[in-house]
Amino acid sequence: MKLIVEKICCIGAGYVGGPTMAMIAEKCPQIEINVVDINEYRISKWNDIDLNNLPIYEPGLKEIISKCRNKNLFFSTDVKKHISNADMVFISVNTPTKEKGVGAGQASDLKWIESCSRQIGEFAKGETIVVEKSTLPVRTAETIGSILKSFSDRDKKAKKDQKKFFILSNPEFLAEGTAIFDLENPDRVLIGGNNERAIDSLKKIYLNWVSEEKILTTDLWSSELSKLIANAFLAQRVSSINSISALCESTQANINEVAKAIGMDLRIGKHFLKSGPGFGGSCFKKDILNLIYICNHYGLKEVASYWEKVIQINEWQQKRITKIIVDRMFGNVAGKKISILGFSFKANTNDTRESPAINICSDLIEEGSYLSIYDPKVELQQIQIDLGMKPLDDNSWPNKNGGWQFAYSIKESVENSDAIVILSDWDDFFKLDLKSLINIMRNPSWIFDTRNTIDTKQAKAVGFNIWSLGDGSLI
Ligand code: NAD
Ligand code: UDX
Repeated sequence: MKLIVEKICCIGAGYVGGPTMAMIAEKCPQIEINVVDINEYRISKWNDIDLNNLPIYEPGLKEIISKCRNKNLFFSTDVKKHISNADMVFISVNTPTKEKGVGAGQASDLKWIESCSRQIGEFAKGETIVVEKSTLPVRTAETIGSILKSFSDRDKKAKKDQKKFFILSNPEFLAEGTAIFDLENPDRVLIGGNNERAIDSLKKIYLNWVSEEKILTTDLWSSELSKLIANAFLAQRVSSINSISALCESTQANINEVAKAIGMDLRIGKHFLKSGPGFGGSCFKKDILNLIYICNHYGLKEVASYWEKVIQINEWQQKRITKIIVDRMFGNVAGKKISILGFSFKANTNDTRESPAINICSDLIEEGSYLSIYDPKVELQQIQIDLGMKPLDDNSWPNKNGGWQFAYSIKESVENSDAIVILSDWDDFFKLDLKSLINIMRNPSWIFDTRNTIDTKQAKAVGFNIWSLGDGSLI
C-alpha cells in the first residue's frame, strides 16, 4: 500500500463530498482528486463555468473551486475509471432514513453505501484504502468489508489481479453554512481503523493543514459511533434550550438571558444554546432516528426512549410556533397574507432538508393563509418540491384556501402582508428597516420572530405587535 497517496476518488459530489475534496485539493496540490457522482446534472453544475451555478452554496467554496478545478480537482460521472485509478476512495454518498421495509422510519438506508461498495469491489485495482466519510451506523465497516472481500475472493479464484482493501472510518463534522471554515479549522479529525499504515496514509493528508494533536485515531467502531453521538448531543442541546424557550414565555423570563447565564459556566459552554424554530438539516433527525434504531436493536429501550424525546421536542416546537401565530392573529389566518423570511434550515446555505420552514409553512397554508416566501438562496423549484404544491398564479392570489408565492425581495414579500414570520437567521433579517416595512403592510401588523433577529423595542416603537421566541416580557 502506498503511504503517500497520489490519487483520490470521492464517490458522492454532495454537501460533504464537494467541499471536503475541495479543501483537500487546495491543501494538497500534489494529490489528484476526482469527485464522481451518478447524478449527471449535479456534476454538470460542479463543472459550470459560472461559479454562481455550483450545486451548493457555501461561503468561500467558489473561491477554492476556481483555484483548484481542472488543476488537481475534477468532477466526473466516470465512476469506473476514477475508482480504478485511485489509491484511496472516499465514500461520501447519502445515508437517509429508510422509507420502507425493516426499520422504516428509523434505520439508515444503506442501499447507496452497498452499491458504491460493489462499484469499488468491481473496479478497484491492487491495494486500495476505502474511507467511510458518510455518517454510518456503527459496524457498517463490517458490511463494506464483506462486500469488498467477496470481490477479492472472486478475483483470487479466477487468478486475476489481486485486490486488497483497507477500511477506515473518517466521519465528517462540518456544519453547512460554515463548511469551508470548519474544514480548514476542524476541532478534531477522527480516524478509525485497524491497519496502522492505512491510518498513517490518511493522517499524512490531513497533516498538510491540521496539527497532529487534533488528529485522533481510534478503532473503527468507536469512530463510527462517535459521529452519531456528536450529532445526538448537539441536537439534544437545541431541544433542551427550545423546551426552556416555552417556559420563559410562561414566566416572563428571557431565553437569551438564560442561555447567556448558563453558558458562562464552562462545564455547560456557550455554544449551541440558541433557541429557534427547531433543528433542521439533513443530519440531526436522521442520525438520532438511527441511534434509536440501534439502541432498540440491542434491547436498550430506555436509552432509545431518552433520545426519542429530543425529536419529539423538536416537532413540538414547530407546531407550537404555528399555533402562536394563528392564536395571535385573532385565531384566524385564512385569507391573510403572511411574509415568510427564510426557508433554508439555517443561514448561509441553500439547503432546505428538514427545514422547520417546511412544516410551519405547510401548517399555515393548511390554515388558509397565503404565504409570500423570500429566501436569499433557496430557489422557487426547491420550495415547490418541499411544500408539495405549485405557487399560486396572480389570478388565484389572494384566496382563502391558502397557498404560496415566491418573492424575489424582502419588500415584495412584506408588501400588503398582515404579518412577517422570520424563520432563518440570515444576516439581512437582523437589519430590516422596520419603519419603512410597517408602512407597506396592512394593519394591525405583526412580527413573529423565531430567531430573535429583531430589536423588539424598536419594533414596538414603530407600531408592530411583536412576538419573539422565548421573550417572556412580550407576553
Ligand atoms: P448528498 O445527498 O448531498 O450527496 C450524496 C451524493 O452521493 C449524491 O449526489 C448522490 O447522487 C451520490 N451517490 C449516491 N450513490 C452513489 C453511487 N453509487 N455512485 C456515485 N454517486 C452516488 O449528501 P451529503 O449531505 O453530502 O451527505 C453525505 C453523507 O455525509 C451522509 O452520510 C451524511 O449523513 C454525511 N454528513 C453530511 C453532512 C452535511 O452537512 N450535509 C455533514 C456531515 C456528514
Ligand atoms: C450538523 C452538525 O453541527 C455538524 O457537526 C454535522 O457534521 C452535520 O450536522 P448542520 O446540520 O449543517 O451541522 O448545521 P448546525 O449548525 O448544526 O445546525 C443544525 C440545526 O440546528 C439548524 O436548523 C440550526 O438553526 C439549529 N440550531 C443550531 C439551533 O437552533 N440553535 C443552535 O444553537 C444551533
